[in-house]
Amino acid sequence: MGNGVWTGRWFRTSLALLHPNGKHVSWSMVCGVMLFGLGLISLLTGHVASHLEWYSHRLHRRTLSTLDGGEDEPIDIWQSQYSKYYYGCEERGRHFGPAVRERKSNGYLLIATSGGLNQQRTGITDAVVVARILNATLVVPELDHHSFWKDDSDFANIFDVNWFITYLAKDVTIIKRVPDKIMRSMEKPPYTMRVPRKSEPEYYLDQVLPILLRRRVLQLTKFDYRLANNLDDELQKLRCRVNYHALRFTKPIRQLGQRVVMKMRKMASRYVAVHLRFEPDMLAFSGCYFGGGEKERHELGEIRKRWTTLPDLSPDGERKRGKCPLTPHEVGLMLRALGFANDTYLYVASGEIYGGDETMQPLKDLFPNIYTKEMLAEEELKPFLPFSSRLAAIDYIVCDESNVFVTNNNGNMAKILAGRRRYMGHKRTIRPNAKKLSALFTSRHEMVWDTFASKVKACQRGFMGEPDEMRPGRGEFHEYPSTCVCEKPFMDDLSQDGTRPKKVL
Ligand SMILES: *[C@@H]1O[C@H](CO)[C@@H](O)[C@H](O)[C@H]1NC(C)=O
Ligand SMILES: *[C@@H]1O[C@H](CO)[C@@H](O)[C@H](O)[C@H]1NC(C)=O
Repeated sequence: MGNGVWTGRWFRTSLALLHPNGKHVSWSMVCGVMLFGLGLISLLTGHVASHLEWYSHRLHRRTLSTLDGGEDEPIDIWQSQYSKYYYGCEERGRHFGPAVRERKSNGYLLIATSGGLNQQRTGITDAVVVARILNATLVVPELDHHSFWKDDSDFANIFDVNWFITYLAKDVTIIKRVPDKIMRSMEKPPYTMRVPRKSEPEYYLDQVLPILLRRRVLQLTKFDYRLANNLDDELQKLRCRVNYHALRFTKPIRQLGQRVVMKMRKMASRYVAVHLRFEPDMLAFSGCYFGGGEKERHELGEIRKRWTTLPDLSPDGERKRGKCPLTPHEVGLMLRALGFANDTYLYVASGEIYGGDETMQPLKDLFPNIYTKEMLAEEELKPFLPFSSRLAAIDYIVCDESNVFVTNNNGNMAKILAGRRRYMGHKRTIRPNAKKLSALFTSRHEMVWDTFASKVKACQRGFMGEPDEMRPGRGEFHEYPSTCVCEKPFMDDLSQDGTRPKKVL
């Protein structure tokens, strides 16, 4: 267990072989015979050997997925063994036409995004796609200054605006603002509308395009999740070009983010980034109970009154349904159970933690090497402090660069980073299976540690960021960007390190 690899499979496979009724037998035998055959061929011909690993991987995976859903697969907690068989594929298709020029476009599209940094990122991504659908000229989106996070930053303070425009030049024409001439010629102020959530492209063509054509300048407000999840492949790939390439943070943000990453790497060759959403508002909103007694019930109850329409929830019911964010302590227990040793370096990305140091202490006890951006970049962080989005951007970078990313929640940042990490080569991303884990945490004291640990591992299968967790149509696209993750062609020869070497003659 020391190297973090689970080794249950070999043992159980051998057991299965002994079991006369199991389908496992025939499949394992088929695999074995075929592999043996291939080995022979490779000995004879000398050039099939490099396919061997690939065949064995394919066969193995196929047998597992048809027989037991991969239950027995050993997992390297630091890295997916299968990531090397996939690559990001977001290129423009040959028949995807060039961007419509400003003069020929159907009008100017203004976008007001909504929410915190990562929610706005989804809005900006979809804004580009909507502009493409409408053949509109996109004006660089406006950021939300009135969200809960209250940040006055403009697009150009957070994102590299020139890079954004240039990178997407072939897809959509983007300008910084509507030309004065157009503004002066308008009889009325720009028309403003809010489209329903997850609208289909047809909605934009039927309902939005006529207004755009009539008014020349149109603003879409509260723009987040306003475009359907499932689009045709070319538009999904455009989403990936925006989200994973065109949206790059400004240089000062990137530089500070990288400095924090370097500091982590200097201390440890690899680190785990833990994104903790454990702020009072989040906890109050969840309706869950976190073990803080009357004080907590009162405090969170007061905050909950802010939202007048929230239903009365049963805290136990919510926990059983897996709706409660894990506490820092629970995240620590999960990580230790999965096999991360107590000398692992953790980077904790978070806002204000409810209960402060007292809440964090149990996690620190499990993992003494804990760092935050405030600890690693004291002075340099000062200019960023008044801007919650810039701080969030630093955390985004350090989490993105981490070897393993773990969250305690299912919010926007967790989903977006999980998707990005899949695209970037299936970097290990651990999402707690809260529904199953909650029962385990509750009954933890009724079992010895080893039992608890193996049950946690069993719960977490399918929640570790493995490539096969992604299936077309599953979940939200920015969490499962399946159109932009391709499997390397079967006949391609793969070297040990997973790069694509020259074709074998
Ligand atoms: C956008 O432009 C393309 C290429 O010129 C054209 O085929 C398409 O019909 C246009 N769509 C709209 C909504 O104007
Ligand atoms: C970490 O674990 C090792 C054994 O696994 C133990 O000897 C050591 O005391 C632990 N360190 C801390 C700081 O808990």
